[in-house]
Amino acid sequence: MITSLFRNAAIYTPASSQTPLSGDNQGKVDSIARGALLCRNGLIEKIGEEHAVIKDLSLYDVDIEIDCEGCCLIPGFVDPHTHICFAARREREFSQRIAGTPYLDILRAGGGILSSVRAVKEASEEELFQTTLENVLSALSFGTTTIEIKSGYGLDTETELKMLRVIDRIRRETPLDVAITFMGAHAVPQKYKENPDTFVSILTDEMIPAVAKQGFARFCDVFCEDGVFTLQQSRKILQSAQKHGLKPRIHADEVYDTGGAGLAAELQTVSAEHLLAASERNLKAMAEAKVIANLLPATAYSLRKPYAPARRMIELNVPVALATDCNPGSCFTESMPFVFGLAVMNMNMTVQEALVASTINAAWALERQHSVGSLEVGKQADFLLLDGDSPAILAYHAGVSPVVSVYKKGVLVA
Ligand code: NIG
Ligand code: FE
Repeated sequence: MITSLFRNAAIYTPASSQTPLSGDNQGKVDSIARGALLCRNGLIEKIGEEHAVIKDLSLYDVDIEIDCEGCCLIPGFVDPHTHICFAARREREFSQRIAGTPYLDILRAGGGILSSVRAVKEASEEELFQTTLENVLSALSFGTTTIEIKSGYGLDTETELKMLRVIDRIRRETPLDVAITFMGAHAVPQKYKENPDTFVSILTDEMIPAVAKQGFARFCDVFCEDGVFTLQQSRKILQSAQKHGLKPRIHADEVYDTGGAGLAAELQTVSAEHLLAASERNLKAMAEAKVIANLLPATAYSLRKPYAPARRMIELNVPVALATDCNPGSCFTESMPFVFGLAVMNMNMTVQEALVASTINAAWALERQHSVGSLEVGKQADFLLLDGDSPAILAYHAGVSPVVSVYKKGVLVA
């Protein structure tokens, strides 16, 4: 049992709460100017003012003591939305996009997600694991200690199960906590282009039962979008997922308002993703149904789209979380500090709101709020040391990661 003491740090953590933080509480952060944190056996044993934490230290055998002079200490980032398991980058497509070809036109022509599907099918399981591992370890170095990873570049039962096995291996063989999502409804394969309902039936009757039987995925996600899955198809897929014990979530209104946010409210999904084009009415329905808005500002940046209306969501009492959406197409970044900076600078969130969104609210979005996302006694000792006085450094030191060290369950991992 290792006991370690981190002292002389400015500590920032979301305030303790029984619900996701929203509205006036979206930025509810506790701070301690000179704090200390004692970890024991991977968990937070004590946290508070330094003098209080070290008062009866003789009760403990401290193995490691670290003076955090000049650093601030925050919870490890929870990234609640990624497609980080892929086999090949899509740099050429990026050049097409910045030259003006719309993202959905590339998909319609058989590129985009469908080109990632071809690459994943061609890759061996070991190759897919190695590329994913490289991406995930990069995310860890930027401070992500808990991550959600979706399948969705297989689009047939065999390849989706292969992706989920790889993601589960990432869960077992890296220090990160990994939440696994099945996203067989990521695109309609070209052979079903003329009859997408046939593919929807394959999803509900074959793929979802097989995924549930495999037992790795906890969530099921759908790309509800113009030219991808309709609202009705998305409802059908997510209801089938619920029937098989998978929790629904939904890519809603990323490019066009197709009513996805309303469906999230109707099904009371744990989160709805993107929401760049969501209507006011459906945002209100989300607030009512307590659906978390997973906002992905790096995708808006990369697609050159207007950002999701984070301020309006906060006004409406929708709890906001932040994620990278790391994927080889619409958004290739594994950096939560970058996402944090965009949230503050381009979505006008306060530093405190962004901190809550990228830690405890993101943990709620993955149903991990009991173990991660804030610094509280009994939770996992997942935290970061930043080269700055406060989390504002994440937005202030633009384009640079201020993450000096990453601790997972009390152990230095990056
Ligand atoms: O969240 N929109 C669908 N899925 C991803 C993009 C995946 C890809 O382009 O490979 C997203 O933006
Ligand atoms: Fe996504």
